[in-house]
Amino acid sequence: MTQQENLCDIGFIGLGVMGKNLVLNLADNGFTIAAFDLDNEKVADAIKQDKLENNSDNERVIGCSSYTELLSKLKSPHLIVLSVPAGEPVDQVSESLIGAGIQPDDIVIDTGNSLWVDTVAREEKYKNNFILFSSAVSGGEEGARFGPSLMPSGAPYAWTRIKPIWEAIAAKVDPVTGKPLERTKPGEIIEHGESCTTYIGPAGAGHYVKMVHNGIEYADMQIICEAYHVLRAGLSLSTNEIADIFEQWNKGPLDSYLMEISVEVLRHKDSEGQPLVDLILDKAGQKGTGLWTAVSSLQVGAPAPTITQAVYARSISSFKDLRITAEPLLSGPELISFTSESKKEFIDNLHDALYCSKICAYAQGFQLMKLAEKEHGWRLNFAGIAKIWRAGCIIRAAFLQSITDAFERNEELESLIVDEFFAKQLSNNQMSWRKAIANITLMGIPAGALSSSLSYYDSMRTSVLPANLLQGQRDYFGAHTFERVDKPKGKKFHVQWGTAEKNMIEL
Ligand code: 6PG
Repeated sequence: MTQQENLCDIGFIGLGVMGKNLVLNLADNGFTIAAFDLDNEKVADAIKQDKLENNSDNERVIGCSSYTELLSKLKSPHLIVLSVPAGEPVDQVSESLIGAGIQPDDIVIDTGNSLWVDTVAREEKYKNNFILFSSAVSGGEEGARFGPSLMPSGAPYAWTRIKPIWEAIAAKVDPVTGKPLERTKPGEIIEHGESCTTYIGPAGAGHYVKMVHNGIEYADMQIICEAYHVLRAGLSLSTNEIADIFEQWNKGPLDSYLMEISVEVLRHKDSEGQPLVDLILDKAGQKGTGLWTAVSSLQVGAPAPTITQAVYARSISSFKDLRITAEPLLSGPELISFTSESKKEFIDNLHDALYCSKICAYAQGFQLMKLAEKEHGWRLNFAGIAKIWRAGCIIRAAFLQSITDAFERNEELESLIVDEFFAKQLSNNQMSWRKAIANITLMGIPAGALSSSLSYYDSMRTSVLPANLLQGQRDYFGAHTFERVDKPKGKKFHVQWGTAEKNMIEL
């Protein structure tokens, strides 16, 4: 055996929940790993768990107690995976690796949820020290362990090295049905199927795409929560009854991981038999990726109200004390009473509202990526992105196959809402969506993401909007000029408002 063969394939830094599970996944797939964490116990724990799961004394994970030791245990050029919190820690580890003697042809993969512009800056900053590659991971703890969705980007040379490893550990999809091929047991390997990873583009592109994934995740979660709220507070259904409804919905076009886990959360009882969801404080946390998506949508001019509203909903939820103060002060409507027939109709309409809003959220996310692609000079493969979201990631859903099909039908598709399949889905369900929103509004139950999605739909399907009056207002107070529908495109006009039309100036 040569000296190289004795060395590990991959160096791994950061053995938190995601890191440890990625390490175990890599080991299952036949890679040897030199692992390091500032907390030695985490290293010991990963090694112990691997031995337990592996059921042998085979050393697939080698513990290291310093960055220098980690580098010394790796094949050259070194391949190092970081699973550390986004932001400052990525730079701290990078500097430590430089101190430990990392080489310019070594590759460091940042798998955290870094802000994409930071990734671009880091690639430049460290280019003389090592090759910074990024590959956000989606799928939480279970995804990391049994197959995540991976969004790699950076130097193409680095990708050729990483690709076989990433394809091995990523989630797999049945190429015929487009359905996830589940892997649930340690040691289990799925060798066939399409891997949920594809090269996204240059530095930052992968983190941008992951950011939008999370923006859609925020929207998807919020619309499910709003539907739950309507059923719980508006219809006074029990958590079990709502779980039954969601379970039923999960068998149709709403089939998704987020729907599935919502059913489980709703069914969970605490030790005294109470539905746990009733006891969880209604203040939502957020780490920032949804906010970044909303900010980016405003910056590039991509309308994304469902996503943005989902971020607002989390902020509003955090004002618990203010909401408690306001509740007795601000009146709302009486509850609507339903007959069993009208209740059933309302629940069916709510299903359609959820489905249409979900289409809007994904349409907004994909349009945002399309505009960002232009702005940043990337070349994104939208069918490819939809494909790698079909399994492993948090927003995995049956209808991601329909999104894949839409972009495969038309690579240049401007928005999913004008794709023949999705246009039909929206058109067929728009009346029930409207009825649901009308009733929810009359009930006084907040459903900002569901209702702003409808408003988005109505705005996007309307060839004439009131922006004509808005342009008049802008020209009135600021001489900002306007175009006319009856004159050639691009010709600008300004009026001395308050006087006769003959005062119009052509610019
Ligand atoms: C994923 C998740 C993951 C994480 C989010 C949670 O794709 O696996 O999106 O990245 O759970 O960062 O974000 P919030 O804390 O902002 O909800």
